This record gives sequence, structure tokens and C-alpha cells, in this order.
Amino acid sequence: MTTPRWYTALQQAVAQHSNSSLFQLATVDDAGKPCIRSLIHRAFLVPPSRPAFPIFVTSTDIRSAKVRQIAHADTVELVWWINATLDQFRISGLARVFASPQRSIPHTAVECGGINALEMSGVDWEAKRRELFDAVSEEMRASWCRPAGMPLKVGEENDWPTTVPKPNEAKTDREKELAELALSNYAIIAIDPLRVDWVQLGTKPYQRTFFNRTEDGWSEEAIVP
Ligand SMILES: Cc1cc2nc3c(=O)[nH]c(=O)nc-3n(C[C@H](O)[C@H](O)[C@H](O)COP(=O)(O)O)c2cc1C
Repeated sequence: MTTPRWYTALQQAVAQHSNSSLFQLATVDDAGKPCIRSLIHRAFLVPPSRPAFPIFVTSTDIRSAKVRQIAHADTVELVWWINATLDQFRISGLARVFASPQRSIPHTAVECGGINALEMSGVDWEAKRRELFDAVSEEMRASWCRPAGMPLKVGEENDWPTTVPKPNEAKTDREKELAELALSNYAIIAIDPLRVDWVQLGTKPYQRTFFNRTEDGWSEEAIVP
């Protein structure tokens, strides 16, 4: 089972171009309406026993609409445009949300071959969630202490914290309380790709390739671009 070409290209592009970490993720709500938003890629996780099944990790607020939507419908699609290499990756797959153990999210995604393989290899989702939480800025952590998604009342932002330390660096009781609150609202989303549509605009002529995940790898088909 070998690493698929599309993943090698995407992973290298993201590693080499620091401004290539943004993609757009589409979910559907419970009325079937598509909902799309920009997200920052946080990590690739590759199951040691299944290197052909890489997992994408991004992060969010547990109170956001996308978390409710994934709990209801775990099939998602993302599009990732890499300006530096002129590649577009449109990737569909299954998503699963990993939240604080006290606030775990129900999920229906049982057929996630990559996520299942990671779990067989002993991945610790809670440790990963905390590692990524610690890696963001103090300003970003403060955003998970706001009443996210609620109507904004005039002047209320003056009461919001502007910075929140990592839990293990919080000194005062107030800092500890805020760090715990932010961490409890913080979740990571793992995406297990099943189909990839790779458009290469950096080649002449352009190329378009469909990849479909199989039992133990990926099938590949060139498409007229
Ligand atoms: C450049 C950029 C990066 C963003 N990165 C994230 C992110 O990593 N996680 C996130 O939850 N929202 C991120 N957002 C905000 C989302 O696009 C979206 O507005 C928010 O998550 C609410 O989405 P929802 O209501 O559909 O759940 C980002 C927005 C922009 C413009």
C-alpha cells in the first residue's frame, strides 16, 4: 500500500508554502442545505499501518454550526487551492469531531478506514487536541471564551478576554478558569478522504485526475480537464 500521488503533492505544497494552509470545507445542514467556510489546516496524521490513508486535522469551536452539521451528516467535501503550485484538490470524505471528553460529540462515521487505522495504532485524540490547543496564539484561545454564535450585544466585547494562556502556564485563578473554558469549547475535526479530484493548472496541457479509495489503496483515472 503506497502513498497516493495526490497526497505527496498536497503535503509537499503545504510544507513548502507557508501561506497554503487554508481550505474551504462544505457540510450539509439538517435541511440538506450546503454550508461552506474557510478553515486552517492544522496537521496531517498518517496511520503507520495504512500510509495510503492520510487524515487531515483542523480545529474549531464546539458550539459552531459545522460541528452540529457533522454530527448529523458526516460526509463532507473540501476544496484546497494551492496558489504557489496552481493545484486544486477537491476532496470528499468522512469527518469526525473530537471534543473535550466531558463534551464529546455523537458521530455516525464508523467506516472511516484511516481514522480507524490511526486508532488501532493507538492515536490519543485528547493529547492531539491539547497539543494543537497549546500551539495556537493567546489571542486565538481567547476567541473560545466568547459567547460564539450568539447575537452581539452593544459593547459586550469590552468584557471579553483578549488573551488566554495555555492551561499549564495559567497563573491566577482567572487565567486558569479562562484556559479551561477555552479548552472545553475547543475541538478538532479529523477528515478521512475517500475521493480526490486533482486539477493541475501548472502543467501544459492542464491535467485532471480522479482518485477513489479502494480497500487497500487508491484507483486513479485521468479525466479530460
Ligand atoms: C482565513 C480564515 C481562516 C479561518 N480558520 C478557521 C478555523 O481554522 N477554524 C474555524 O472554526 N473557523 C475558521 N474561520 C472562520 C470560519 O470560516 C467560519 O466563519 C466559522 O468557523 C463559523 O463557521 P460555521 O458557522 O459554518 O460553523 C476562518 C475564517 C477565515 C476567513
